[in-house]
Parts: sequence; C-alpha cells; structure tokens
Amino acid sequence: MKVLIVTSTPNNDGLTAACGEAARQGVVDGHSPARMINLNDYAIGSCTVCEDGWGTCKTEHRCSLQDDFGKLQEMFAQAEGYVWISPVYFGEPSEPMKAFFDRLRRCEMTRVKGETILAGKPTVCVAAAGGSGGGAIRCLSEMERWAEQLKSDPFDYIPITRRTREYQLETIHDALTAMCAASEPERVQEMPLSARRRRPSRRRFRRPQKKG
Ligand SMILES: Cc1cc2nc3c(=O)[nH]c(=O)nc-3n(C[C@H](O)[C@H](O)[C@H](O)COP(=O)(O)O)c2cc1C
Repeated sequence: MKVLIVTSTPNNDGLTAACGEAARQGVVDGHSPARMINLNDYAIGSCTVCEDGWGTCKTEHRCSLQDDFGKLQEMFAQAEGYVWISPVYFGEPSEPMKAFFDRLRRCEMTRVKGETILAGKPTVCVAAAGGSGGGAIRCLSEMERWAEQLKSDPFDYIPITRRTREYQLETIHDALTAMCAASEPERVQEMPLSARRRRPSRRRFRRPQKKG
C-alpha cells in the first residue's frame, strides 16, 4: 500500500515532524512505501469562491487557482492510504492544512456517486498539541469531517501532547504498521500483536538528553 504522510509544520524537529517520522517508520515496518510531504513547503492559496460559489471544482473537479494545489491533488490520487498530521492551532488544524482541505473537498465531494480520489482508502488522523494539549480532540473532529466528506476510510484518530509523546509516537507507528498489514490479509497473519514486542521500538523516539 502506497501511503502518503501529510504534515504541516514550520519546525523540522518539532512534535509534528516526530509524528511524521513515527508514521514513516510504521509504514516501512508494514512493508509498504511511504511518501512524506509537508504542506508548508507548498504554495496553497485560500479558495476564492469564484463564479457563483462553484467554479471548476464542481464541473471539472479541479481548482482554477494557479498554485501547488493541483500537484497535491494528484499525489492524493496516487496514494492508497493516508496519514494526516497537523499541529493544533487554536483547537484546529493548521492554516495550510485547512486551506488545502477546503479546496480538496470542493473538488472531490462533487464527483458522481461519491467516487472521490480518496474513496475507501484508509486514513489515520493525528493532532499534535504542543501547548496546553487543549483542542486536540476538536482538531481531530475537524479532520474526521474531512475524512467523512472525502469518503476515505478512517482507520484511527490519534491525539498527542507533550505529556503523551512517548507512548503516542508508539501508537502512531503501530497504527501505520497495522493499516498497511490490513491492506494485505496474508500479512495480518504474519504480524500478531506480539510482533510489537519483538522490535526495539521504545528507544527510537527518545528525545536526546539535555546537557548540563
Ligand atoms: C498559533 C498557535 C496556536 C496554538 N494553539 C494551541 C492550542 O490550541 N492547543 C495546544 O495544545 N497547543 C497549541 N499550540 C501549540 C502547538 O500545538 C504546538 O506548538 C505544536 O504541537 C507543535 O507542533 P510543531 O512542533 O510541529 O511546531 C499553538 C501554537 C501556535 C503557533
């Protein structure tokens, strides 16, 4: 299963990036190829609500704005499963992620019989709250709406905070390994729960100790 790991953060060594790496390792351990993208590296404008409220999003299932959206839409079409990882800002997903999904649902919800480019594809949603931890569930709830509207197949919803970091990175890893295994029934037999105990995973996500 080709898994697209989508993050959205300005910090290469922050919590969101750590979640992305845990997801990537989970996909690799699930014997699947992973592609990682950070939406902050792409130009994604806001929907301008063109014409009478619907533009080419309704008629051609593409956006008329000239930026990186089309390229990203194609990446989503090629993937067979997803992880969406957002930092929690004001109890919501990040602005680039909201801008992207605002436009993607316009283009995809308008396809006939709900045949979106994400239809039936498993999706793990992660909300990374580095502050108080407040709003992580609200953020996941917004991501759940996207998954439902886009007709993807929600596999798991994972909140992570500073306090839960160590074990939730494990959870993200294991969720992705399980998601990849579930796409190949013969692999489920190969990967009992005890498989987790056989891998030296706990040490992998430890933060380096501060000196002094
Ligand atoms: C504008 C802004 C709003 C934020 N709002 C929240 C919030 O509502 N709840 C929370 O727990 N953390 C909040 N935070 C902290 C971020 O969730 C935290 O920095 C994020 O998990 C870290 O992601 P990063 O390491 O990828 O930067 C906010 C941070 C910023 C910059």
